[in-house]
Amino acid sequence: MLGRVNHVAIAVPDLAAAAAAYRDTLGAVVSAPQALPEHGVTVVFVELPNTKVELLEPLGEGSPIAAFLAKNPAGGMHHICYEVADIAAARDGLVQAGARVLGDGTPRTGAHGKPVLFLHPKDFFGTLIELEEV
Ligand code: CO
Repeated sequence: MLGRVNHVAIAVPDLAAAAAAYRDTLGAVVSAPQALPEHGVTVVFVELPNTKVELLEPLGEGSPIAAFLAKNPAGGMHHICYEVADIAAARDGLVQAGARVLGDGTPRTGAHGKPVLFLHPKDFFGTLIELEEV
């Protein structure tokens, strides 16, 4: 079911500082910030030869990463995103297998304009998993 790693996401308290560290200290190509109000985050993408790193900063009230940053004030790895060919089929198989899909199970449009879903971290060894249809 799983395809490539699409990105690894890191929650950060200060997106401009994190983008500058990746660009200036690590010498990576970093995209312009993109506000995603429906996901409660602002993101930049660090472009790497084999994948991307997504840096996330909370946006607005009730951001889904606010509690994570309260527990990890310096920032930390927030989720890993795997590509799938058919997100509805993936969801149905996972639910049948007893895995918990966050929200109401309806895929939402992610940062790349593609449908995404999140899986409960307690079902996958403490790691939040994002699935993205490609
Ligand atoms: Co993501």
